[in-house]
Amino acid sequence: MAASSPTRSRTPAHSGRARQRSTGAPIGFGALIGAVLSAATVGALVLSGMAPVGPPVAEVVPEVVVPQQTPDPAPTEVPGSWARESLALEPPMGWNSWNQVNCDGLNESVVKAAADSIVARGLDKAGYEYVVVDDCFQAGRDAAGTLLVDPGRFPSGMKAVADYVHSLGLKFGIYAVPGSVTCGNYWSKYPVRGIGSLGHEAQDIALFVEWGVDFLKYDWCRAHINDRLDPASSFVLIDTVIKQSGRPIVLSISEYGDYAPWTWAPGVANMWRTTHDIHPYWVSILKHINLQAPLAGTSKPGAWNDPDMLQIGNGGISMNETRTHFAMWCMLAAPLFLGTDIAALPEETIGILTNPELLAIDKDRLGIQAARVSDVGGLQTWMRPLADGGYAVAFFNTNAAATTMSATLANLGIPAGSYTLRDATAQTDLGAATDTLSAPVNPHGTVVLTLHPTA
Ligand code: GAL
Repeated sequence: MAASSPTRSRTPAHSGRARQRSTGAPIGFGALIGAVLSAATVGALVLSGMAPVGPPVAEVVPEVVVPQQTPDPAPTEVPGSWARESLALEPPMGWNSWNQVNCDGLNESVVKAAADSIVARGLDKAGYEYVVVDDCFQAGRDAAGTLLVDPGRFPSGMKAVADYVHSLGLKFGIYAVPGSVTCGNYWSKYPVRGIGSLGHEAQDIALFVEWGVDFLKYDWCRAHINDRLDPASSFVLIDTVIKQSGRPIVLSISEYGDYAPWTWAPGVANMWRTTHDIHPYWVSILKHINLQAPLAGTSKPGAWNDPDMLQIGNGGISMNETRTHFAMWCMLAAPLFLGTDIAALPEETIGILTNPELLAIDKDRLGIQAARVSDVGGLQTWMRPLADGGYAVAFFNTNAAATTMSATLANLGIPAGSYTLRDATAQTDLGAATDTLSAPVNPHGTVVLTLHPTA
């Protein structure tokens, strides 16, 4: 089965110790994993001995639950007629609860209000379509193992919330983890245990299908430590279970970029985190941009690098920094997930988030993430080719003083010729360019220029 599946043939290897219990006993779907991993690739992804994953905050780790469950039986076939890469042909966009309310503030009113605001502020027309409930909605499991939803936080139940989101023409997403413990259990002291999907993979996906889930965020949360799982095979398993369900659920995985997912996740997931968590301040945004520089060329339609969700609207991010955050995420072909109170955003921010020229770059059908072509004295220049024969160039000033930035076509790797030039950030024409591009750039600001060959 799996050997002939195009999705599985690109799956990377694992250490061979993967998905074993603390007892050392191999777990039930070893045959599946064995079948999908060719001998040639076994050993290529050695996960043992790697640094712990999870947000780099407090190192005090709560009690670890070693689950007694066994994983659901291995899927024996993948009947889905869709390939993973056929979903999310553009970087997914929407809202996710985490950056707005974290764990403690999650409830159905917040989620429904976000959906309402997406429509009321016209964000749906710009492509923001997924409304994703992140961690901390769970209330344990019943005797049959079915995942329960916290009735205090979601009194109407999750299906009703999903129906509400769908009634607005939007799509609904949910959060789960491959191991026994969610990140909220660790980092937010969410007390409800037994809510991970380990041993309940097919049961959870069946429930999500019943709710009408369109998008799943599947978050690692130290499962290599707690449960001795390995990321690649855990994510292959959930991709397989989703396919077996028949519902084309977009799969967003998160192991924080610790295991080079861009080398093995295409075909398994539609997007994968390349970093640990983003925070609502400049240093974090800058760090996340810098971390993407080595990853140019590793994303494509249906398979996106995810430098984490937007923090626009949160914390102490200035308007220049807001513009940079958005413009650079578009240059990077990144998924765009808001995590803020959309109703409270100023009109100026809505204008940034709906800039059609930047969004067109993000969604460009070549799906080529920008490459950083120079980085001198805090002045960075990035470039990506576009499907219509044009190019997008970002002048990104990481410094605290305004400056004028410039680059020649040769510096940028753009063929010599005559081009019409536009400032995509300001949405204004800049005339013709034949050799040198230049633009004034604000402190912590970004100007994105587009070039199209003159006919
Ligand atoms: C983190 C993840 C966050 C959020 C949180 C939930 O690991 O990176 O985006 O999902 O877990 O507990």
